[in-house]
Amino acid sequence: MASLSTPMLRGSALLRRCPRLPAARSYAAGGNFEYIITEKKGKANNVGLVQLNRPKALNALFQPLINELNQALMTFQKDPSIGAIVLTGSEKAFAAGADIKEMCDKTFQYCYSGKLLKDWDIITQIKKPVIAAVNGYALGGGCELAMMCDIIYAGEKAQFGQPEILLGTIPGAGGTQRLTRVVGKSLAMEMILTGDRISAQEAKQAGLVSKIFPVEKLVEEAIQCAEKIANNSKIVTEMAKDSVNAAFEMTLAEGLKLEKKIFYSTFATDDRKEGMSAFVEKRKADFKDK
Ligand code: HXC
Repeated sequence: MASLSTPMLRGSALLRRCPRLPAARSYAAGGNFEYIITEKKGKANNVGLVQLNRPKALNALFQPLINELNQALMTFQKDPSIGAIVLTGSEKAFAAGADIKEMCDKTFQYCYSGKLLKDWDIITQIKKPVIAAVNGYALGGGCELAMMCDIIYAGEKAQFGQPEILLGTIPGAGGTQRLTRVVGKSLAMEMILTGDRISAQEAKQAGLVSKIFPVEKLVEEAIQCAEKIANNSKIVTEMAKDSVNAAFEMTLAEGLKLEKKIFYSTFATDDRKEGMSAFVEKRKADFKDK
């Protein structure tokens, strides 16, 4: 069983006061964002990079940032040149959770009407693969955001945790569900009931992250993985992603049935024909995403 490190109880200090947040500036449609940075990366410019950029609050997630993130994701989703997306933060924090100062004075009525956490899971509707490159803290909503991505790579100093219990609440963006499915009941319960954090190494051992890299190499490695994905057929990649995601929603029998149907469906694509022909003809496949 992985050992858990003890978090500093900064949340209680945050809760002592509930300051008003400054209103967010508006941004231009072309991507003049205030809380994120976006770029196209990779040799073929086929990877969309989104960096959360709210350093003063350790990338704490609040609605204006989520709105920008969703806009950037939708833009990359629509861009036919982009085959995969990398989501990262800073070296200190992927995201230290939902913004406690924003949530502090919210009422039950406000939350229950669906205004809190509005559109926080748009990332799960993105059809292109999304890789989370996590350096530093991925706590609360930050850990949940990483778990909404398709692959998690971690920097060797990353820390994952669901400390909501220390704030008198519980995870509200999938922590009790996604974490439990990935790491199992005992570790999920321990993390969620104590608020203790796990290291990158413990997260890898538990299956939460697939690879660990030195801090300064992490984003580059995530982009390389995204490039590999982007060089494959986009339509078949989407089918593969759909099929893997179905494993979280279906029984084994239902999932196997769906997988077979999607497998057969690849035979309706030009790219399946091209991929197999290229192998037989001993050449590199030239996928056209059709
Ligand atoms: C708002 C936050 C914040 C957060 C950090 N900050 N986390 N502000 N919401 N979640 C702010 C601090 O107030 C501080 O700003 C600045 O970021 C730097 O943080 P420090 O605490 O000074 O840094 P450090 O001592 O290095 O400690 C880092 C930390 C600690 C261990 C990550 O900040 C921390 O425990 N943060 C809270 C983590 C947490 O509880 N996350 C879960 C949130 S609830 P000022 O201006 O004050 O100096 C949640 C619910 C999700 O996510 C529900 C569904 C989405």
